[in-house]
Amino acid sequence: MKSVETEIRFKLNGRDVCLNVPVTMKTLTMLRDKLGMTGTKYACGEGECGACTIKVDGQTLNSCLMYAVDCDGRELVTIEGLRTPEGLHPMQQAFVDHGAIQCGFCMPGMIMQADYLVENNPKLTREEAQRGLEGNLCRCTGYTKVLDAVEAVVETKKCCGRC
Ligand code: FES
Ligand code: FES
Repeated sequence: MKSVETEIRFKLNGRDVCLNVPVTMKTLTMLRDKLGMTGTKYACGEGECGACTIKVDGQTLNSCLMYAVDCDGRELVTIEGLRTPEGLHPMQQAFVDHGAIQCGFCMPGMIMQADYLVENNPKLTREEAQRGLEGNLCRCTGYTKVLDAVEAVVETKKCCGRC
């Protein structure tokens, strides 16, 4: 049986997108299989691990849980969209510099969530970062270096030694 499709329009990493998607398709599948955005990873597929984290209208969410049709009229950012014209985004660079990336599978989701946390709280503490990243699981279990990387990004946002 042919699945029912519908047309959706949205912004992806600053670009306008218009495409037909099956009404049962999830956003993660659309990103990876229809749009070639394979930076966003498929792991559990049921909202447990955070590997598929993206930003939708500035909020992070698990793209494996969101239907593609619900992207209509919204603004999506994936790990590919974090990159700046100058190169890696500061959060990406900090993960590299602190050796936070091991097998790398969970890292796109981890970086998206870490960036969201710092964006919304420039004075984020290590404990707050730890709590904010609880939904992002790493099978390589290297959480300490992830927190070092996030802390380093927060440091660069301080204007002096006291704040
Ligand atoms: S793949 Fe979406 S939360 Fe695990
Ligand atoms: S770096 Fe391997 S799963 Fe996190």
